[in-house]
Amino acid sequence: MRKPLIAGNWKMNKTEAEAISLVRKLIQGVKSQTSVDVLLCPPFTSLSQLHKLLVSSPILLGAQNISEQKAGAYTGEISAEMAGEFCSHVLLGHSERRAIFHESDELINQKIQSALSVDLIPVLCVGELLEERESGEAANVISRQLQAGLKGIHLPDPEKLVIAYEPIWAIGSGKSASADDTGSLIGGVIRPTLAGIWGDDTSQKIRVLYGGSVNPGNARGFFSQSEIDGALVGGASLSADKFLGIIEQTF
Ligand code: 13P
Repeated sequence: MRKPLIAGNWKMNKTEAEAISLVRKLIQGVKSQTSVDVLLCPPFTSLSQLHKLLVSSPILLGAQNISEQKAGAYTGEISAEMAGEFCSHVLLGHSERRAIFHESDELINQKIQSALSVDLIPVLCVGELLEERESGEAANVISRQLQAGLKGIHLPDPEKLVIAYEPIWAIGSGKSASADDTGSLIGGVIRPTLAGIWGDDTSQKIRVLYGGSVNPGNARGFFSQSEIDGALVGGASLSADKFLGIIEQTF
């Protein structure tokens, strides 16, 4: 009932020329198939050109961040409205933004409100540190990030939000979480928390992705879990072969 979504977070990688070359290969690989949604989140600098390149492709574009402010004297920032000119989605609350740029749950909440106000779909990232997992705190941390990040958010359509569960220790480490543990965590913590906010029906319709060292070799294990609706891919999304290899695992 939930359509798979495979998203690539390019982080701070690819010049515009490199981005165009990668996207040309992805357009060829994805063609017009629509059984899985494919989302690319390149740096802001490539969005305009990639938007033009993707007009007749089903591949979607997302931003990696937006400002919580609407417009004005915020040097270096990009507003939701600006990102919305090119994008359908925006990554928010990524652990790198939380840790390196000190983004709080409150700020992430404001950014989610800004995104929804211009019809950009937030991909809210949540996940625990290794110490939190080892001390049995993972469920509390994730539930808190969801409740604080989504506080007061009116969500008329469950398709207007995506959750990405990315355990921080699995990001870029080559050590992915186990598919079984991830399925249980989504079914036992993430969906019940979403149900507590908007009810069971909505919680069953929101797509929840896994992220953290996903590659073509381990992707199928995740996608075979009924609770996991796709992947948010970092490193492997920088290679057309690897990213297409992950998409193929959903078929
Ligand atoms: P890796 O796939 O490189 O572990 O990165 C995951 C991630 O942070 C995606 O947002």
